Amino acid sequence: MEQTLVIFKPSSVQRGLVGEVLARFERKGLVIAGMKMMQLDEAILREHYAHLTDRPFFPILVESMTATPVIVMCLRGVQAISVVRSLTGATNGRQAAPGTIRGDFSMSNQENIVHASASAEDAEVELRRFFKPGEIFDYDLVGMRFINEPSELEL
Ligand code: PPS
Repeated sequence: MEQTLVIFKPSSVQRGLVGEVLARFERKGLVIAGMKMMQLDEAILREHYAHLTDRPFFPILVESMTATPVIVMCLRGVQAISVVRSLTGATNGRQAAPGTIRGDFSMSNQENIVHASASAEDAEVELRRFFKPGEIFDYDLVGMRFINEPSELEL
């Protein structure tokens, strides 16, 4: 099964949307494998958004992501990386499809509620960046049999 990183950005914390957004992930059938609140700083953001440090909006991104603590989460499930990205929707909330998290809750490119890993390679690196060994837990939901038909667990 795949694991992916979600960051509940300051926009979700400040707007009181953490519970509602988390409920969407839970209702979908994803397992919360790790979760903690942390204050990000410029150093970790320079690593996490290394491909964006030269973009003109990078200082705004840092200001936004350090404005308040965030909640980082590891979600686990069959094909969890693409499932979470499709629940999340397009980066710009103004263009994200209705029904997606950003489409329903965001009007912004930056204040877009959550970050979600884009690929298996990113998920592995990003989870290691935000979680220490022992902070991600391996357990099964009692109702797992009714989330995935057992043969799908191999996907
Ligand atoms: S790219 O190159 O724009 O496609 O980069 P991407 O990997 O999609 O990441 C974009 C992240 O930067 C945040 N951000 C903005 N993106 C585009 N335009 C503007 N003006 C902007 N300001 C901030 C955006 O929220 C993405 O963050 P994540 O955490 O990945 O959602």
